[in-house]
Amino acid sequence: MTKIIDFKDGIDNWELEEIKKSFTDGKLVIFPTETVYGIGANALDKNAVDSIFIAKGRAQDNPLIVHISNFEMLKDLVEEPNEIEQKLIDTLMPGPFTLILKKKEGVIPDNVTCGLDTVGIRFPENKIAQEIIEYTGLPIAAPSANISSRPSGTNIDDIKDEFDGKVDLIVDGGDTKIGLESTVCKVINGIPTILRPGKITPEDLEAIIGNVDIDKHVFESTKSDEKVESPGMKYKHYAPNTKCILIYGHTDQDYIDLINQHKEEKTTLIGFTEHKDLFKDVIYHDLGSKDKLEEISHNIFTLLRKADKDNSDIIIIEGVEKKGLGIAIMNRLLRSCSFNYYEK
Ligand code: TXA
Ligand code: MG
Repeated sequence: MTKIIDFKDGIDNWELEEIKKSFTDGKLVIFPTETVYGIGANALDKNAVDSIFIAKGRAQDNPLIVHISNFEMLKDLVEEPNEIEQKLIDTLMPGPFTLILKKKEGVIPDNVTCGLDTVGIRFPENKIAQEIIEYTGLPIAAPSANISSRPSGTNIDDIKDEFDGKVDLIVDGGDTKIGLESTVCKVINGIPTILRPGKITPEDLEAIIGNVDIDKHVFESTKSDEKVESPGMKYKHYAPNTKCILIYGHTDQDYIDLINQHKEEKTTLIGFTEHKDLFKDVIYHDLGSKDKLEEISHNIFTLLRKADKDNSDIIIIEGVEKKGLGIAIMNRLLRSCSFNYYEK
């Protein structure tokens, strides 16, 4: 049985105690962060961590990130950061940012990091997440709350759909603010390298360090035997069951022509608010206004799941320019569509 704890209107101490007990008993707790919901376990409990992999159906070589609520915890888990890493920590934590750091030996079990000698550390800024971790007093391993390959969970209904009955507790904190997972960054040869783009953009990192790389797999698929910096890049991600096509850089006429090509099929469109009345005979979901990237990032995962329920033959999604937060949006959409896209 899964119990739902409602923290939308405030955090209750008695229920914090219950959450702490679940974590210390080795159980799974789903909790909100500012990015997406996480499915968490005590990062120091090997068996509890194993059950995250089982609940998600997650590949055994895809490491989990570890969540903290103060910098003392960081000291216990990782070797001393270098100067660049420290600057990133000082500037971006707490926040929607994960930094890959060298693990301290013998603290975090190997199954959290899938045998790597590094660990992703994240200090969320969401108050509910912070209070839960702080009250529990343990580092919490938590991947996004979704069955592997599916869109990440950003609202309580989608979470319940997938995990009711499979975890001990679900903490309801309402819809997540950002809607896309944290920026994952690793300092490689002195250069902060973005392994997964997010709300913290390359420009943000440039302003702090001055020099930034973006891993080539951010916009490219990986070959099956290719060695990658971040194992998560290898797997199918964020995908509805329905076939998807991503279109971007088009004029209104191009959009109309493309959709007309699918006239015979039942079509769902996840499109800009401005294109609401452009098409007839399609099921339309409002992605948000063209230039409001924050609105779009907030809506993506919820709409991918909603669109799947239309039982259409095809889902067409409108993409954005790969700039700023648009980089993270396109990284997710390209994968949702299994790199099936039209560009002009
Ligand atoms: O916003 C987020 O980051 C959410 C919330 C819950 O905090 N969590 C999340 O976790 O998205 P997950 O497991 O879905 O994605 C973590 C990504 C994966 O692509 C994984 O491969 C990568 O981070 N990663 C984790 N540890 C790593 C490491 N030591 N080296 C390289 N990549 C790592
Ligand atoms: Mg994930």
